[in-house]
Amino acid sequence: MTYSFTVAIDGPAAAGKGTISKAAAAHFGFAHLDTGLLYRAVGRRTLLGVDPVEAAQTLTAEDLDQCELRTAEIAQAASKVAVIPEVRAALVDFQRAFARRAGGAVLDGRDVGTVICPHAEVKLFVTASAEVRAERRFLELQAKGSDLTRDQVLADVKERDARDAERSTAPMKPAEDAVMLDTTDLSIEAALNQALAAVNAKLPAAD
Ligand code: C5P
Repeated sequence: MTYSFTVAIDGPAAAGKGTISKAAAAHFGFAHLDTGLLYRAVGRRTLLGVDPVEAAQTLTAEDLDQCELRTAEIAQAASKVAVIPEVRAALVDFQRAFARRAGGAVLDGRDVGTVICPHAEVKLFVTASAEVRAERRFLELQAKGSDLTRDQVLADVKERDARDAERSTAPMKPAEDAVMLDTTDLSIEAALNQALAAVNAKLPAAD
């Protein structure tokens, strides 16, 4: 495919959007960008003492390549820097250019369908109950050796949800034309099948 085709996948933490995005990108041969990593990288640099706006304006590929970006501490730092309009503004161009690259792109985050790519060909909003999401995140963190309890992870997920949904710039919310996908009671396979069907329905017919 030489034209651009954008799939925007938004939703709260641990709803399954990362898994679905990666699998959908692999299935269609599209590039994938986890936009949360940009905010995590800014959050990480902030924890190292860099001003958040400066961190966002000078982000490098190396900042995105840090293995510790997936910790709970960095997730919280990311959601704190994500409320700052200048931080968000500094990250827009990179995301939009990625979205329009030739060959198709899947971007997942919180505001991809609403702010970054309002004209995306496909928009999905992937969600699940806070309890189910916290359990998934708890198991993930535990496998990495974290000693956070279930209750701490649930509190963390709820705090981040509230901050992400209530901020005034680019709050997390479904785009009006997003397909809603609630994964609370769905297997990964079933959720992925629904996502693939939504993309297939919008792909241009092959000649
Ligand atoms: O998706 P992930 O959990 O890695 O994102 C970390 C944080 O980055 C989110 O809680 C949110 O505050 C912020 N974020 C955002 N907009 C995006 C992606 C992530 O504000 N498009």
